Amino acid sequence: MLIAHISDLHVMPPGELAYGRYDTAVTLARCVDSLLQLHPLPALVLATGDLVDRGTAGEYRRLRGLLAPLPMPVYLIPGNHDAREALCLEFGDHSYLPRPGAKVDYRVTENDICLIALDTVVAGEDGGALDPAQLDWLAAQLAVGPRTPTLVLMHHPPITSGIRCMDGIALDVASARRLGRIIERHPQVERIVCGHTHRAIQARWHGTTVSVCPSSAFQYGLDFRPHAGAIPTAEPPAYQLHYWNGAQLVTHTVTPA
Ligand SMILES: [Fe+2]
Ligand SMILES: [Fe+2]
Repeated sequence: MLIAHISDLHVMPPGELAYGRYDTAVTLARCVDSLLQLHPLPALVLATGDLVDRGTAGEYRRLRGLLAPLPMPVYLIPGNHDAREALCLEFGDHSYLPRPGAKVDYRVTENDICLIALDTVVAGEDGGALDPAQLDWLAAQLAVGPRTPTLVLMHHPPITSGIRCMDGIALDVASARRLGRIIERHPQVERIVCGHTHRAIQARWHGTTVSVCPSSAFQYGLDFRPHAGAIPTAEPPAYQLHYWNGAQLVTHTVTPA
């Protein structure tokens, strides 16, 4: 089974370009086209936040149109650029989403794989967090299926990447510490899939693997200097394909032509 993973789509209103250069609708449309040319088609698509750039209703309407050609289930979670209420209003027919305004935490099972989504968005902040109720809920969900291969979806990575400007707005340290203590008790967590950093990153973490998907729109430069900012680069838009081979998840990074 193939699980497609797109992230940081940053869809904007028609005529607007991210950083004055990147037409994020065009780059998303190229990713969607690329997914549709795969054989077999992915069984599902994960979209791990920063779905749109400013969280407006118009952007979500445009996002819906861009995702419409995908015939398989698409699972959405918000990032710091999203507005969870507008997201849930536009995608009200996605039955896994909560009522508008509630945190976008959900659990679904697809083809014997469990997906658990955690909403790490903090209103008005670029960095992310998980509150105690979310962590308790996660622990309860993981206890339900101790032998079901599980993917945890969240926008903000819980790791220190070395890219200081992004580490400063990752999942907050206290949330990451508590999350790690839960994850390490549940070896069925095959992967934590994230976005936010606009780069492909992997790390072993508390007995699982954290995997950050690059952006379908633009990547930030790899700069480890302490005062470096998040600067978009000429690196191409990309997405990932997680291939479940029956025993493990194998991740491929794809740059659409
Ligand atoms: Fe982003
Ligand atoms: Fe983000």
